[in-house]
Amino acid sequence: MRTKAGGARKWQNRAYLTGICFGLAILTFTVFPVGEWFHAKGPMNTGHGKLACAACHKNAPGSFRQQIQANLRHAVGRRKALAPFGRLPVGNAECMACHERPNDRHPVYRFLEPRFSQAREKLRPHQCVSCHAEHQGRRVTLAETGYCVNCHKDTRLKKDPIDVSHADLISGKQWDSCLGCHDFHGNHIMQIEKSVDKRTPTEKIRAYFDGGPSPYGTTLRYKAKQDGQ
Ligand code: HEC
Ligand code: HEC
Ligand code: HEC
Ligand code: HEC
Ligand code: HEC
Repeated sequence: MRTKAGGARKWQNRAYLTGICFGLAILTFTVFPVGEWFHAKGPMNTGHGKLACAACHKNAPGSFRQQIQANLRHAVGRRKALAPFGRLPVGNAECMACHERPNDRHPVYRFLEPRFSQAREKLRPHQCVSCHAEHQGRRVTLAETGYCVNCHKDTRLKKDPIDVSHADLISGKQWDSCLGCHDFHGNHIMQIEKSVDKRTPTEKIRAYFDGGPSPYGTTLRYKAKQDGQ
């Protein structure tokens, strides 16, 4: 009797595992249609036309079979976390491999500080892809130009060199003016304008976001590496 029940339970367990296995396999093939994967989502962003897919898309560790096994172990409680399938999400590390710049005035890691928690919720400034989503054939994908409002409400200059002071621009909510005189990363070597009327108009900044010419000149402190090496 005991052995019969045990055998049935064993068989049940095996059927259960097979079920999970099939379920997971179907899930993977629907969530990540493997054959279709190589058709990129859309045109590469400005400057990225020649990059290898693998420069940003790293494979999850292990073979497909190992990934299924790891997730089966998770399903029966023998592994803490789900194992990633197929490709890993693209993170800052991939971008930084080619775009690391020691004097970025807005480095992503800074925005992990607690005082930026509200800005993190609204803007996600701690991730490159929040403003540079890929496969959109553009340079900057964040549509907004006045997003400085999230962090610069209290910016005051001791000796303000511009004709309408920063204090006045800020109290007048002129947030669209900021990028007319400042680039975001501070990577362009340029003379900063002092007359608010002579700033770059917002349409030209939008055109630059979309892949057009730079209103901040073309001399950069740091150039991108071609291969991340
Ligand atoms: C500069 C980095 C970069 C390069 C190079 C790149 N991608 Fe992507 N790709 C991304 C980002 C960012 C996403 C958004 C999803 C994410 O964060 O994983 C994405 C998403 C995708 C997706 C949608 C699936 C998903 O995980 O959301 C496919 C398919 C894709 N890329 C294919 C390709 C192919 C094919 C190539 C080579 C021709 C390529 N990519 C090159 C950054 C890149
Ligand atoms: C393998 C190296 C490599 C990786 C990885 C990479 N890039 Fe690039 N990126 C480049 C190169 C090369 C250019 C073209 C630079 C040029 O035109 O001088 C470029 C251009 C750009 C530009 C436009 C620069 C300009 O002046 O027009 C942006 C924005 C950008 N990358 C953001 C990103 C982001 C965000 C990621 C991560 C999702 C990323 N890159 C990943 C190499 C890379
Ligand atoms: C909050 C939005 C935001 C985030 C986050 C962000 N960028 Fe940008 N990025 C911009 C804007 C706006 C511009 C255009 C103004 C300029 O050129 O600085 C830009 C321009 C660039 C350029 C072209 C000009 C240059 O500096 O060479 C590159 C390359 C770039 N970003 C890479 C990155 C990388 C890599 C990350 C993550 C480490 C990142 N960005 C994070 C908004 C952002
Ligand atoms: C997520 C928060 C955040 C956002 C969004 C943001 N900044 Fe900043 N910015 C900072 C911080 C932090 C500093 C460093 C100075 C400080 O500690 O107050 C800074 C510094 C600067 C500086 C001075 C850099 C230097 O070298 O002294 C300029 C100029 C600047 N930001 C312009 C802008 C503009 C223009 C925008 C909008 C396009 C913007 N910032 C958006 C947080 C932010
Ligand atoms: C007419 C051009 C112009 C406009 C518009 C402008 N700025 Fe400035 N900004 C300057 C100049 C010039 C400086 C002087 C510092 C320098 O030369 O780097 C400066 C300095 C700064 C600094 C650095 C302060 C420091 O302690 O060094 C920050 C931060 C800043 N601006 C943020 C902003 C923000 C946010 C806006 C939008 C509300 C804005 N700026 C609009 C021209 C401008």
